[in-house]
Amino acid sequence: MLNRTLGTTGPQVSALGLGCMGMSALYGDADRAESIATIHAALDAGVTLLDTGDFYAMGHNELLIGEALRTAPAAHREKALTSVKFGALRGPDGDWYGYDGRPAAVKNFAAYSLQRLGVDHIDVYRIARLDPDVPVEETIGAIAELVQAGHVRHIGLSEVGADTLRRAAAVAPVSDLQIEYSLVSRGIEADILPTARELGIGVTAYGVLSRGLISGHFARDRQLAANDFRGMSPRFQGENLQRNLDLVEALRKVAEERGATVAQTAIAWVLAQGDDIVPLVGARTRERLTESLGALDVTLTAEDLAAIEAAVPAGAAAGDRYPAGQMAHLDSER
Ligand SMILES: NC(=O)c1ccc[n+]([C@@H]2O[C@H](COP(=O)([O-])OP(=O)(O)OC[C@H]3O[C@@H](n4cnc5c(N)ncnc54)[C@H](OP(=O)(O)O)[C@@H]3O)[C@@H](O)[C@H]2O)c1
Repeated sequence: MLNRTLGTTGPQVSALGLGCMGMSALYGDADRAESIATIHAALDAGVTLLDTGDFYAMGHNELLIGEALRTAPAAHREKALTSVKFGALRGPDGDWYGYDGRPAAVKNFAAYSLQRLGVDHIDVYRIARLDPDVPVEETIGAIAELVQAGHVRHIGLSEVGADTLRRAAAVAPVSDLQIEYSLVSRGIEADILPTARELGIGVTAYGVLSRGLISGHFARDRQLAANDFRGMSPRFQGENLQRNLDLVEALRKVAEERGATVAQTAIAWVLAQGDDIVPLVGARTRERLTESLGALDVTLTAEDLAAIEAAVPAGAAAGDRYPAGQMAHLDSER
């Protein structure tokens, strides 16, 4: 497995990370046994980075990863790195009540995550969204104290803009920014990515398949469960969906000419944007995982990249990447 380093101060991780969110939440039901088998298969293939959030079905995702780690061969378990997001406040019915980045809350969240994951430290710890009521310096300072105490190894950030990156990096070393980045979500290229590079902060890119939209497998008439995020996402609605799937068909042509699948081409495109970027793939079955890992064998030439960009030009996606209420929480969109 190819490895990459997260920023100048972060850990070495597999060039593709496994995002485990969809195994518990947001994309409808998942099969628990298959989810664990997928994590095991990823570890077996050399994937070392497992990404989660404590609020993905309220601890369910961390417990799932904990079980997968406990039942994995020791050699794989020892190499696995956990990347955990915290801070989202949710109710028993799944309601969202904002974010809490107060230092005491940070330490409280971490204590529960360590228990659920069954680990003695978290490798990268980050607040999922900036808490607008708490200066980022205080939140980062609290994680830095967890690093000092040995409970956390590295500090990350999620969906923040360039100014916040600078403020955070002035407090303590930041390993990576987790942020949406794909052929159809290129907002970070103008300001955020150059700033991360200037500061020596790596990127863990999520939504590289735009939540399945540009995977080549998303059917126009797919029925989504009531609790599926995509049922509310502007990109999956009506005419937007139609226009976005037309882009996928253009991408399919380019992919097929190169003997790759659409998903592999979309992941390979992100991999090709820099060695400081690690795509997190949201595979939740072994079949999807195998397809995703195939992206590591897809080498894109300058000509290939130009053909891909001609098929899916920057800014061509129809619809925002989040519903309006959630866009408002994104420091990265200010
Ligand atoms: N920091 C943040 O704000 C944030 C936000 C969202 C996610 N994340 C993290 O990033 C991770 C990845 O995000 P994501 O799950 O939205 O990413 P994604 O990889 O863009 O989308 C995953 C979806 O794509 C579908 N898919 C189709 N073909 C696939 C293939 N070959 N490989 C993988 N998936 C395929 C899956 O569908 P089926 O399973 O239905 O087939 C799944 O629904 C999450 O698991 C989470 O850890 C972070």
